[in-house]
Amino acid sequence: MQPERTQVVIVGAGPAGLMLAHKLHRRGISAINLDLRPRAVIESTHRAGILEDRTVRMLSDEEVSERYRTDGYEHDGVELRIDGEGHRIDFRALVGASVWLYPQTDVFIDLAAARDRDGGDVRFGVRDTACDLSGERPQVRFVDADGHDCLIEADFLVGADGSRSICRDLIPGAERFFREYPYAWYGISCEAPMSSPELIYASSPHGFALISQRTETLQRMYLQTPLPDPANPDSDLDTWSEDRIWDQLAKRVNGNGFELITGRITERVLLPFRSFVQQPMHHGRLVLAGDAAHTVPPTGAKGLNLALADVQVLAEVMQRAVAADDPGLFAEYQRRAIERVWRAQNFSYWFSQLMHTPPPGTNPFDEQRRRGEQEYVTRHRAGQTYVAEAYTGWPNES
Ligand code: PHB
Repeated sequence: MQPERTQVVIVGAGPAGLMLAHKLHRRGISAINLDLRPRAVIESTHRAGILEDRTVRMLSDEEVSERYRTDGYEHDGVELRIDGEGHRIDFRALVGASVWLYPQTDVFIDLAAARDRDGGDVRFGVRDTACDLSGERPQVRFVDADGHDCLIEADFLVGADGSRSICRDLIPGAERFFREYPYAWYGISCEAPMSSPELIYASSPHGFALISQRTETLQRMYLQTPLPDPANPDSDLDTWSEDRIWDQLAKRVNGNGFELITGRITERVLLPFRSFVQQPMHHGRLVLAGDAAHTVPPTGAKGLNLALADVQVLAEVMQRAVAADDPGLFAEYQRRAIERVWRAQNFSYWFSQLMHTPPPGTNPFDEQRRRGEQEYVTRHRAGQTYVAEAYTGWPNES
């Protein structure tokens, strides 16, 4: 079969893969994206909702869309509620920054529309994707959504194929760092007005809860739940009544004049907690970006922000790699991206352990130490500043 030619073939058409293709297009470089999922499935998959200011600015600067300005909400702070008592972390006052409530699904919709507008080549709903790095140029074989066998040859291959990446397995001798957590989140969407103007991360004797938002009429909330355990049917929140879920949320966040507004639950989802990094993030003409190379637990909403920070650096390095036909430049991408990756891994891990109730049997010393840390973070400026800086995102490294 005669292969189709493009300069960069990107496995994955989520926000990272599409943003990379968009940026490359603007720099005169051709790319093709492939994704297992049909477009409608990605458009209806709900993910995290908070973007760093530098992430939304990519949407403007690269002329993807300005929709976040009309449909999103800028937040100048966040509330940490400890045992019912609220403490505001004022991002603006502490670090002069903000974040945006603008869901990942909307980022995807904007990027997919931008690719359509620019005549981009995105193949959704493909199957049997197989990457071959053994020849002089990478080749990718797959069956497209119409059932046709396809073969693409490119100068470079990018694995932006998410936490179940097939591309990362093509990096021989890579190191993998992995951590699991003794809890998960149970997420709901519900039809209700906003209970508060900013997000609330609540730590209570009943466990953690997060009150997030979507629109004036649709909200998103999460409850800490034990890991699913067949021996403990109570760990399966899918079987819980709406009343029971609202009762648990209220116990974790209500108090001191605050009362959660409830509504009809329209979606339920279990979110696993894990931390993962694979390094190096490149091998020969293959390079990874986003969740394919690193996954964070959802506390702090770093996943998408980190993926797009990778893409920011990768687009620039890729432009030079294409011009020089030199994969040796990917070492620079690795060097510039990995520092933020580990910093965000640390924050996501740290913020998770700070706010979640540890499982029974945890050393009481550790629990008292966590209380001391909560006190420091909520009441002392240096502690608050770390949260504000990490949550709003660190500036780009050179
Ligand atoms: C969300 O709105 O889905 C969300 C917000 C903040 C997080 C995680 C998820 O830390």
